[in-house]
Amino acid sequence: MPSYEPWRHHFPDLLAWEYDLSSKGWEYVGSGRHRRVIRRGNVVIKIPYQPDGKEANQDEYELYRKHRNSPDPRTGVYYAPCRLLMNGCLMMRAMKTKLNNKAYRKLPLWAFEMLDGPQVGYDKNGRAMAYDYSEERYYSLLDIPA
Ligand SMILES: Nc1ncnc2c1ncn2[C@@H]1O[C@H](COP(=O)(O)OP(=O)(O)O)[C@@H](O)[C@H]1O
Ligand SMILES: [Mg+2]
Repeated sequence: MPSYEPWRHHFPDLLAWEYDLSSKGWEYVGSGRHRRVIRRGNVVIKIPYQPDGKEANQDEYELYRKHRNSPDPRTGVYYAPCRLLMNGCLMMRAMKTKLNNKAYRKLPLWAFEMLDGPQVGYDKNGRAMAYDYSEERYYSLLDIPA
């Protein structure tokens, strides 16, 4: 672990854990507004780097648990399967996220209606699934008339 200033990190324990995983075959795939993401084989782990990231993980877990492998009836969104780990990180099925033009044109309409944009990839069976869908809680968890 390189030296770092703990006060500049919300979750230094998670950073240390991530650093350890990087020596065990986990590879960095990207990061977004509140989580860094690493991958090994068919799964990714979403590691929060600020408190909203833990909430996003919780929300994605709840959305997936509620709908499992059918589309959200309100929006048509398919949620990539995931489960919450004890430390607040989220383990999720890895999606193919780099889309060529053909794959992009095949994205379903619901992808473009998502609140945080079409963060949608394809699983290995070619099904389009959202991989960053915490914002969808505004549609699904709140009591909006269907
Ligand atoms: N299930 C996944 N499969 C493959 N790559 C993913 C997956 N989830 C996230 N990623 C990659 O990690 C990046 C950050 O994850 P994301 O869920 O967008 O975090 P944030 O909520 O911080 O924006 C994504 O832009 C994407 O490149
Ligand atoms: Mg994102």
